[in-house]
Amino acid sequence: MKKQEYIHGYDPVEQERLIEQARYLDKWVRPGVDFKRKARVLEVGCGVGAQTKILLKRFPEITIDAVDLSPEQLEAARRYLKRELEEQRVRLIQADAADLSALEANSYDSAYICWFLEHVRDPLQVLKETRSRLKRNAPIFVSEVFNQAFFVNPYSPSLLKYWFEFNDYQWETGGHPFIGASLGNLLTEAGYRKVHTEIRSFHFDSRQAQERERFTRSFEKVLLSAAPALLKAGRVDRKTITKLKRELVRVEKAKDAVFYSAWGRAVGRA
Ligand SMILES: C[S@@+](CC[C@H](N)C(=O)[O-])C[C@H]1O[C@@H](n2cnc3c(N)ncnc32)[C@H](O)[C@@H]1O
Repeated sequence: MKKQEYIHGYDPVEQERLIEQARYLDKWVRPGVDFKRKARVLEVGCGVGAQTKILLKRFPEITIDAVDLSPEQLEAARRYLKRELEEQRVRLIQADAADLSALEANSYDSAYICWFLEHVRDPLQVLKETRSRLKRNAPIFVSEVFNQAFFVNPYSPSLLKYWFEFNDYQWETGGHPFIGASLGNLLTEAGYRKVHTEIRSFHFDSRQAQERERFTRSFEKVLLSAAPALLKAGRVDRKTITKLKRELVRVEKAKDAVFYSAWGRAVGRA
């Protein structure tokens, strides 16, 4: 069996990156996510609470039960969501998402999963467990990576090599870097009804030069968060990382640069 690893790690720089990332990507990720008033929401794979805080702010009447496996992430979430915890708008729960039996069945009005299923060994099991915690007909909103869909101009061979190793390593260690394209199958197999899927893209060229630069910088942080794991596994060397950084500066600055990547959104009903 493949050994399960968390490719981004748990150090404080990475935890801060998750917060920055959630804030920056919110304008793309939030459209299409809606909760009814006073909904009890189950967030699975909450990390440091980066999405949790945004959702609680956007939907001022909901409460969230937020689950993560890692004590380090939950500790950071406890600090980041201090006020929301005091206001009893959120509960932080340590559990493996593959076994949510500690939570009451048929009791949530909605579920939210973001940048998470790529990291678990058995996403289908997680989706089934989540469904059994939802009331009948309650909606689930899922946003996940589809790392196969990636393109930059100018041609960047070191970046492409690194990206291959990043995804291959994640795959070999039990993750699912392309899962965004398979959400329709997974939700359907997990028993959700009215499943709707969409592939959404990030596509920037000279017409959005500022956003292109900002997005590329943010993407560089995602890439480099895996550098310790990839170096340790002998997947990349320091020279490749130096070249990759140089290539990314060209994608940020070159007049004819293009950045393209895509991800998957799925909505279904329990
Ligand atoms: C990339 S973070 C995403 C966090 C959050 N959804 C966000 O967008 O900021 C993925 C999280 O999945 C958690 N995780 C990995 N495997 C898990 C499992 N089996 N059960 C629960 N959480 C898990 C990790 O601890 C990590 O916090």
